[in-house]
Parts: sequence; structure tokens; C-alpha cells
Amino acid sequence: MTLYEKLRCLLTFGQGVALPLPEISPETQPLALFEQWFKEANQSGILLPESMSVSTCSADGQPSSRMVLLKEYDQDGFVFYTNFGSRKSQELEYNNKISLLFHWNVLQRQIRIEGKVERVSQAQAEQYFHSRDHGSQVGAWASKQSEKLAYPDELKERVKHFKTKFSQGEVPLPEFWGGWRVKPRYIEFWQGRASRLHDRICFEKQDDSWQQFKLHP
Ligand SMILES: Cc1cc2nc3c(=O)[nH]c(=O)nc-3n(C[C@H](O)[C@H](O)[C@H](O)COP(=O)(O)O)c2cc1C
Repeated sequence: MTLYEKLRCLLTFGQGVALPLPEISPETQPLALFEQWFKEANQSGILLPESMSVSTCSADGQPSSRMVLLKEYDQDGFVFYTNFGSRKSQELEYNNKISLLFHWNVLQRQIRIEGKVERVSQAQAEQYFHSRDHGSQVGAWASKQSEKLAYPDELKERVKHFKTKFSQGEVPLPEFWGGWRVKPRYIEFWQGRASRLHDRICFEKQDDSWQQFKLHP
């Protein structure tokens, strides 16, 4: 994104956007469009463009959302990594329906994704886990994500314990840690426009192909 485009975005913020909607034909596939928007988000200088909101639902229907980082995506889906004992993972074990949300404000764009999750393979999780820095690998062992601390220093003490335990050699992948792959059924691309007349380009999976349509803003 050029300085001129950035200035235009800032000046037009709330009014509609500088960027034209990319060419969309009936043949456009949602993954290709996601790839293009994600690339543009990366080029825009936004901090952590790969951060996304993940929403899950409890057994009694209470939705909850939190941010995570998108680590991989391809035809098979969108992958993030987390603790399998966490609230989100527990909810996903019970109800595998999920929704993801990206918002790139300077581009006045959001992408909504809905689908179902499955766990990524152990081999894929191993590969990602070992690509992380040593501190994050130890941190994954130390954190009982989403559980209450039994006493104030519990986390600090667990970090110390696992630092000592794994001071030599490779940190193994914890059995309670890994990735979720979101297999999308619905993807919506939202582009901000002047006078709130925004574009909403939607894709819905029917059998094995994507149906494309637009929604009123
Ligand atoms: C920008 C950002 C990125 C995050 N990325 C992750 C992530 O990739 N995986 C993760 O487990 N938590 C991540 N977190 C922390 C989560 O938002 C959340 O606090 C944690 O996963 C526990 O959520 P839960 O109790 O609902 O399961 C991130 C937080 C922020 C603000």
C-alpha cells in the first residue's frame, strides 16, 4: 500500500474506502479472494493481520469470542493452535461449529468465516510446535489455559519447573496442545463503501462447490 493510499484510507475512514473491490467473476473462488485480501492486509502495515476472532458456543448456548492467530490456510481450511483443555477447545469438542472474523480497519474490510472444526494431525502440530521459540514451547507446558490459578504464583512456579525439566534437548509436544482446522461452509467478504453502501460478497458451500451471492449492506 503506497503512502498516498494510506493517506486516502485515513482521510476517507468512515466514509467509504479507497481500495476498489478486486475483480470478482462468477468463477471467483473464496480461497483465492481470501489469499488476495490477506496479502493486501500483510502489505498494509497492520500489526498482526493474521489475528482473528474465534467464536464458540457453550453447551447451554452461551457464545464466547477471543483472538487467536491464523497459522496456516489452504483448500482444507484455516488453522490455529491452542491448548485442548482451554475453554474454546472444550466447547469445540462438544459443538464443532465455529466462526472466525478478521477485521482490517485501515482497509475497511472484514471477512467472516463459518464452519466446523477438526483437529490437525499430530505430525502437523509437531512441526508447528517445534518452529516456535523455546520460551513459547515451555509456556505451552506451563499454562493450564483457561483454568483458575490455584494460588497467585502457580504459573510462575510451573514455568520454572518446566524450564528446568526441558533445559536440555527438545521440548516435546504436550499431548494437550495442538491445532484446530476450520473447514468453511460460509465465507463473506465485506468492503466498506461511502454512505454505508458497503459490498458484501458471500460464498456458501453446497455439496462440493461454492455458490456466490451478494447481501444488502
Ligand atoms: C492478538 C492475540 C492473539 C492470540 N493468539 C492466540 C493463539 O493463537 N492461540 C491461543 O490459544 N490463544 C491466543 N491468544 C489468547 C486468547 O485470546 C485467549 O485468551 C486464550 O486462548 C484463552 O481463551 P479461552 O479461555 O476462551 O479458551 C491470543 C490473544 C491475542 C490478543
